[in-house]
Amino acid sequence: MDIAVIGSNMVDLIAYITRMPAEGETVEAPDFKMGCGGKGANQAVAAARLGAEVLMLTRVGNDIFADNTIENFRANGIDTLYILKSPASSGVAPIFVDPESHNSIIIVKGANKLLSAADIANAAADIRRCKLIVLQLEIPTETVYAAVRFGVDNGIPVLLNPAPAQPDLVLEKVKACEFIVPNETELSLLTGMPVDSADDIRNAAAALRDAGVKNVIVTLGKRGALWLAADGTEQHFPPVNVAAKDTTGAGDAFIGCFSTVYVKTGDVARAITAANHYAADSVTRLGTQTSYADREAFTRLYPDFAEI
Ligand code: RIB
Repeated sequence: MDIAVIGSNMVDLIAYITRMPAEGETVEAPDFKMGCGGKGANQAVAAARLGAEVLMLTRVGNDIFADNTIENFRANGIDTLYILKSPASSGVAPIFVDPESHNSIIIVKGANKLLSAADIANAAADIRRCKLIVLQLEIPTETVYAAVRFGVDNGIPVLLNPAPAQPDLVLEKVKACEFIVPNETELSLLTGMPVDSADDIRNAAAALRDAGVKNVIVTLGKRGALWLAADGTEQHFPPVNVAAKDTTGAGDAFIGCFSTVYVKTGDVARAITAANHYAADSVTRLGTQTSYADREAFTRLYPDFAEI
C-alpha cells in the first residue's frame, strides 16, 4: 500500500454563476454540476488515478449520497474497507464558480465531523503498511493530531495540507509532519505572519520550517510553488500557464500527484514539478474529481511521468 488518506469526502454541488446574489436577491446561474469531492477524497482519487495504491479512511452519512460516494471510491480503485457509514448526513459542498474561474465554497461537514482517533486505531494494521499519511482539515483537529502522532510513532512520514484554513489548529501538534503544504492564506493563518510579498511568503515559510516542520511547500497558484527543505535550501518552481476554466480542486490535484510521485521516487523536487503540471491540467476542465487526468492521459501531457 502506498498512501493512507485520512480525511473528508463531500458531495460537490457546483453552480457556474455570472455573479453572486446580493442579500435577498435571487439570480439565475447558467449551469450546474454535481460530483464527488471533499479535499481528502479528491487527493485520494487523484493519487489512485495516477497509479498509487490508496487506503482511504473517511466517514459517509446514511443518506442517498453515501452509496454513490462509496461506489466512486471503488470505481477509482480505492480500497473501501475504511469508508465508514455514520448516522448523520453526508458532507456536502455548495460551490460557486464565477466566469473568471474563481470559486467560493461552503462546506457542511456532516459525517466528516465524526471521523475519530478510534477510527485510526481500528485501521492501524493497514495504515502501518502505507508509505505516506496524507491529511487535510475537514475532519476534527483532534483526529488530525492523532493521525500525526500515529505517523510519528510508526515511522511513517505525514503530509498535512492545512486546508481549509483553521484558526484553532495548534502548530505545536502538527510540526512533526514531514511535509506541510499550505497555500498563502493557510500559511498566514498558521504562522500569524503576513504573506503580501514574495519576501513575506518566504519568511513565513521559513518560520514554519524553523518551528520544526521538515519540508514546507507553499502552493502559489498562478505563481507556481516554493519549497523550503530541512537542510536550509529553498527552491521556487515556476507555474505552468494554462487557460483556466474551473480552479476548484486544483490544490487537491497537486497533493494527490505530489504524494504519488514522492512515494514512488522519494524525489521531492520531481514530485513538485509533476504536481504543478497535474494541477494546471486539472483547471482546464470543469468540476473537481471530474477534472483529474488518469495516468495515461497525464503521461501524454507530461512524458516524464512514464518513468514514475
Ligand atoms: O478543494 C476542493 C474541495 O473543497 C471541494 O471538492 C469541496 O468538496 C471542498 O471540500
